[in-house]
Amino acid sequence: MIRKIADGVYNVGVVDWDRVLFDEIVPLPQGTSYNAYIIFGSEKTALIDTAEPYKWDELKKNIEELGIKKIDYIISNHAEQDHSGCIPFLLEMFPEAKIVTNEKCKQFEMDLLHIPEEKFMVIKEGDVLSLGDKTLEFIMTPWVHWPETMTTYLQEDKIMFTCDFFGSHVAISHAFAKDYDRIYHEAKRYYAEIMMPFRNFIERNIKKIESRDVKIIAPSHGPAYDDPSYIINAYKEWIDARPKNLVLIAFVSMHESTRKMVDYLIDALSKRGMEVRARNLITTDLGELAMDLVDAATIIIATPTMLAGPHPAAVSAAYLINALRPKARFAAIIGSYGWGGKAIDILKANMGNLKAEFLEPLLIKGLPKKEDFASLDELAEEIKKKHDSMEIQ
Ligand code: FEO
Repeated sequence: MIRKIADGVYNVGVVDWDRVLFDEIVPLPQGTSYNAYIIFGSEKTALIDTAEPYKWDELKKNIEELGIKKIDYIISNHAEQDHSGCIPFLLEMFPEAKIVTNEKCKQFEMDLLHIPEEKFMVIKEGDVLSLGDKTLEFIMTPWVHWPETMTTYLQEDKIMFTCDFFGSHVAISHAFAKDYDRIYHEAKRYYAEIMMPFRNFIERNIKKIESRDVKIIAPSHGPAYDDPSYIINAYKEWIDARPKNLVLIAFVSMHESTRKMVDYLIDALSKRGMEVRARNLITTDLGELAMDLVDAATIIIATPTMLAGPHPAAVSAAYLINALRPKARFAAIIGSYGWGGKAIDILKANMGNLKAEFLEPLLIKGLPKKEDFASLDELAEEIKKKHDSMEIQ
């Protein structure tokens, strides 16, 4: 599919309708796309980003269908292979083309794709490249989500090509976002999975984007936005330091003891006016769990004791939470044991990056008893007090 973005600007990228996993961990319930944008200037032609190498045949077909005889510049906003992977094939097809990118991205692509150094034209912050009647400006937007990521601004048409930034893993046949509820969900999932740890950089990068007159934001995954404020405002909501009045309970249970604690706690928290999301770590979609982490003020991990420690699914969740560095202010660990173990210590040790206050853990012996339920009520009461004492979104 070739989708027009503006006069002389087309998305010739590839829709991956049935891909189910990214990076061998991120679920893709809506598939994804690798957008690549061809820009016809009066003198030169540029292609912004490419696609996964296994999609080369489809990218090539789109390029041929547009009758492109020459590409002068391949603008590479990001070295990750879902956007850079077809560059070696493009260089075979268009040997005169130069890869235009920043120094860091050049180094990555020399390592990742074995592209010789002489194929690159290195640019830096604020540099411009004329295609004749169209001008590209390069804006460094690092850490969305790699250190070399950048954005390309087409000045005359006021289009920001942001690569992963403002992207969403969603396969669609049209160019621009239409079904905003669906896109909001998928863009939030995408933010949660890879952008959340870099909130501070994102805030600075948003300011850079907003310093230009922008009519269209065209990321390299999912739809483009002809109302840029929609996706920019959504990002501002997600990076807001204030959490929501939400408690996430990430749990696993083997013989129902931990499950009974979780069920009781859900009730106890709800009765006190807090929203609760309980995610069974054995069945949950990790993207949904990550989205809860965008908003939650309190995170609770609930685990049984297995082989003298937490259940491996709880360890995995703790590791993921630690890596995503959510904004949660409070955390707690609850669970059940038979004859001992180090569940609390092991989970805490895996969450060293979490800048949250750890509340008193609650580890009980066997099935919860009356006094254990009373302790869960105390925990719910404490969480309510903590939430009441802070500014929430
Ligand atoms: Fe879509 Fe970081 O690659």
